[in-house]
Amino acid sequence: MTDHNTYPFDIARIRADFPILDQEAHPGKRLVFLDSAASSQKPRQVIDAMAAYYTRDHANVHRGIHVLSERATDAYEGAREKIRAFVNARSHREIVFTRNTTESVNLVAGSWGRANLGPGDVVVLSAMEHHSNIVPWQILAAERGFTIRYIPVTGTGELDLDAYAGFLRDDPVKLVSVLHVSNVLGTVNPVTEMIRDAHAAGALFMIDGAQSVPHLAVDVQALDVDFLAFSSHKMAGPTGLGVLYGKRAILEAMPPYMGGGEMIRRVTLEGSQWNDLPHKFEAGTPAIAEAVGLGAAVDYLGALGMDNVLAHERIIVEYAMDRLAEVPGLTIYGPDTDRRNGVTTFTLKDIHAHDVAQLLDAEGVAIRAGHHCAMPLHQHLGVPATARASFYVYNTKADVDALVEAIYNARKLFRF
Ligand SMILES: Cc1ncc(COP(=O)(O)O)c(C=O)c1O
Repeated sequence: MTDHNTYPFDIARIRADFPILDQEAHPGKRLVFLDSAASSQKPRQVIDAMAAYYTRDHANVHRGIHVLSERATDAYEGAREKIRAFVNARSHREIVFTRNTTESVNLVAGSWGRANLGPGDVVVLSAMEHHSNIVPWQILAAERGFTIRYIPVTGTGELDLDAYAGFLRDDPVKLVSVLHVSNVLGTVNPVTEMIRDAHAAGALFMIDGAQSVPHLAVDVQALDVDFLAFSSHKMAGPTGLGVLYGKRAILEAMPPYMGGGEMIRRVTLEGSQWNDLPHKFEAGTPAIAEAVGLGAAVDYLGALGMDNVLAHERIIVEYAMDRLAEVPGLTIYGPDTDRRNGVTTFTLKDIHAHDVAQLLDAEGVAIRAGHHCAMPLHQHLGVPATARASFYVYNTKADVDALVEAIYNARKLFRF
């Protein structure tokens, strides 16, 4: 079987959609892009949709009574509708545009959290969170006096669900906020069961979907999740745009996060009335072209089929895990292949991860090295930094082979 037909879709056609991949990183070295967990590349369809918007349709939204403003508003709200359908929200009013996952979490902390959390309350996070789902809660806890509990990570890189059950049983938990897929370990957390248990204990549940929404079908109604945060730039869309899904009744009850234009219905010198959802949470001129771009990205992923996207990544991750396991002196972090997705994270003997990444870059292989915005998790792993190869729809087994070959070359240089 050729590499070409190993995948659930025509990989050559997919790769041709991503013009950035067709270049040399250094003379004679094909670019092998394995850093999509940090930010994915963009297909021509997304780039073209944004260019077409700026070329023909741009004006400010929701304000002007002229043809361009109407077209821009249609494009912006049309994109919101595509994203609603993509995560299966009930209403477009439940889809709030933010700048990124980080801002979506800050919005929930700064609005819902500030209004609902105080001394005696508990928020449950996990020890494998990205900083963006730790720091906003720590800032708010210092202000509001509630307690944060962290679900520990087990030796296999999974959440300690017994500890979680203990928190829900013993503590007045008001909110659980946990990532769906770990950006370091690739662990796919059992959010369906965790949400069910949180609700049974009377707590709300927020998913950090930064590493799941781009890679697998996430259905907010099937999950019955209260909040879902994700970023456009990790799912083939542009930077500068994020999404917060929230159940309508919860969003309705929340105070605004930022004040300004767009989010008000009426302003007097004495006070203001808020606009309807989702505009109540979208102060100021939004990222219109970026929303158009994300709409095109969602069309692109939808046409591939999220089940195919997942199946493709499983093939690549499985292959990467097998090939990396061959390399002497290499340690892989995280659970077995069937409970992980998207990333493989490793260390190479005692070589610093930054040095590994630099040597790989010289071979044209782009990976990420560091703590990946998860310092507490790295403390748990007992290493200051790891190297991470992460995959998306355009990656192939040949990319994994290039990674492994470059690692072997790095080993030679360090003479082990
Ligand atoms: C799991 C996870 N959560 C949150 C974020 C933050 O995303 P953004 O920088 O787009 O806000 C990331 C980014 O790497 C992530 O991997």
